[in-house]
Amino acid sequence: MSLADERARLDAALTEARTAIPNASSTAALTDLERHFAGKRSPASAANEAIKALPGADRPAAGQAVKAYRDAITDLVTQRRVTLAADEGAAAATRERLDLTIGGHARPRGHLHLVTQIRRELEDIFIGLGYRVAEGPEVEDDWHNFEALNIPPAHPARSMQDTLYVRLGTDEQVMLRTHTSPVQIRTMETQPPPIYVVAPGRTYRNETLDARHSPVFHQMEGFAVDRGITMADLFGTIEAFVRHLFDDETIRTRFRSDYFPYTEPSAELAVSCVFCHGRGCRVCSQTGWIELGGCGMVDPNVFTAVGIDPEAWQGFAFGFGLERLAMIRYGIDEIRTFVDNDIRFLEQY
Ligand code: FA5
Repeated sequence: MSLADERARLDAALTEARTAIPNASSTAALTDLERHFAGKRSPASAANEAIKALPGADRPAAGQAVKAYRDAITDLVTQRRVTLAADEGAAAATRERLDLTIGGHARPRGHLHLVTQIRRELEDIFIGLGYRVAEGPEVEDDWHNFEALNIPPAHPARSMQDTLYVRLGTDEQVMLRTHTSPVQIRTMETQPPPIYVVAPGRTYRNETLDARHSPVFHQMEGFAVDRGITMADLFGTIEAFVRHLFDDETIRTRFRSDYFPYTEPSAELAVSCVFCHGRGCRVCSQTGWIELGGCGMVDPNVFTAVGIDPEAWQGFAFGFGLERLAMIRYGIDEIRTFVDNDIRFLEQY
């Protein structure tokens, strides 16, 4: 092979390289091309081998031709590498751009407990009727839970509402409240009439757990003190909230004579069974009615206990169970499911 042949071969390879290298599609493809044109089995190394067979005078020129070829390949590769890096960087930036239109991965969220939902719904209804929401302590004293409510120490009503006592002060004077009625007393002690208040909260009784009774449950108390209040106002108010709550024109309310030491007259409040609409079914024990709570006109002795003149003011009060309401509304037949903390139950509501 002559020097001219060798130059021709290198020129041909360089021409090919000038088309191929600037069109390399990726840095990996570029590395392959670099190896092809300047690696161990490339025209450059073949030319180096061929130099050995050339006449001594031609060797320096042949060596320079190989070097010029290698330099040209290196330049081509370097240029292409720079443009490829820029292109690939831009492509990555495009891929990683924050696209605000793509939906995110929502974190699973919990929601309010069923009893809290019912409580808030009731609060909204009563606020709409002009009531204020009040709260009282869950640990009560004997005066507010019993005495001021016309339930003296030996009164049989105490045994119907046995509770857990707290060792504080005199024996059996501090207890977990058995109902929300003490909030009536606390409110009337601190606020002059007219009063329109609802008082939701947790209550406790020393009772054995069964399908409808729990030692810990929630009640909502409601009471109004104003001039000239009659039982018609009580019935109308209850009628209004029942209608709101069950959103059903066919639901009826029933008041039957009952006894509470702090109301006179007193009544039991029941609603027509939402499941059978009064025909009788398993849920209402075939009676067509479900008891919600108690109510009545505030007893004059209660007014006297808190220093309100019973001749000048009248009032009504009612109290019902929140779990009971939820059970009726959603057909829940076991009160313990409210506190079992089984997510499969809770997430249905
Ligand atoms: C009372 O607690 C009266 N303080 C209600 C009242 C208020 C009458 C104002 C008059 C004037 P009673 O013990 O019946 O009444 O309870 C009322 C409601 O609380 C019941 O109808 C029931 O819905 C709920 N309740 C009572 N005990 C439990 C219990 N252990 N578990 C779940 N709910 C209960």
